[in-house]
Amino acid sequence: MDKSSLINEINKLKIKRDACILAHNYQVPEVQDIADIVGDSFALSKAAAKINKKVLVFCGVRFMAESAKILSPDKVVLLPSKSAGCPLADAITREQLQVEKNKYPYAKVVCYVNSSAGVKAISDICCTSSNAVKVVENISSKEIIFVPDQNLAGYVAEKVPEKKIISWPGNCITHARITVEDVFRAKEEHTDAEFLVHPEVSADIRESADFVGSTAQIIDHADKSDKMKFIIGTEIGVLHKMKKDNPQKKFYLLSPRLVCENMKMTSLEDVYNSLLNMENEIFISEDIRINALESMKKMLCFE
Ligand code: 13P
Repeated sequence: MDKSSLINEINKLKIKRDACILAHNYQVPEVQDIADIVGDSFALSKAAAKINKKVLVFCGVRFMAESAKILSPDKVVLLPSKSAGCPLADAITREQLQVEKNKYPYAKVVCYVNSSAGVKAISDICCTSSNAVKVVENISSKEIIFVPDQNLAGYVAEKVPEKKIISWPGNCITHARITVEDVFRAKEEHTDAEFLVHPEVSADIRESADFVGSTAQIIDHADKSDKMKFIIGTEIGVLHKMKKDNPQKKFYLLSPRLVCENMKMTSLEDVYNSLLNMENEIFISEDIRINALESMKKMLCFE
């Protein structure tokens, strides 16, 4: 099938199945363009919790589709590419987190949304990169176990110095590929550009940035900024919306290595097949889901 027939078929199936397509900002442009909602992890979780459709087709990685299922158990949640995972989410297991909790019995546990349902189920509260600082600021205990992203934990610790953050050595393999040399080179080439990064980058890169935020916050910042040039320190997918919304502005990806292979697995064919065959459905055991829901519901209170 050619691309326009595929898009037509997806749109017909969407109506037939009473489905909504959600896509993360890192998805390939053609998948973002057929989605009903495109956003960061926070916006997609919020949408998944309230959309009034029978089927959610989640174009992203597994933890995102699982989060949608946790929040919307009565809906059928499909992950079009079943092998799209997140090595960061796999960096800590529920058993490893339990060992940490036993080591620090007075600490509260904050888990980044990039984590398994099992990890969410034994955490006190979940957060995304857009609200991690607010979540931590609002926790009553001084000691906080923050898993699994070490760089996001470091960013939060810097912003909320009154808390003792106990981090876990997990990181995003895509953001970890960039170096300070990439930053020197990009800043030399584009002297008057603003430098925008995701908090999953390492501290030495974050320190040289003009703005730190989630994918949606980066896109929004570029929209509102008076600057005309931007160096982007996150995955290439965000450039699609930025360029579409701001044709007069220039965007330079910090490094060509900023491509998440997992986020790029989902194709239009996968979306079509998932809707046609209702395949790759997400299931979560009810005891884990109920507990994970508690930490996710609290996360949604911090816009
Ligand atoms: P956002 O919540 O900023 O969209 O990030 C999700 C993610 O997985 C970043 O690597």
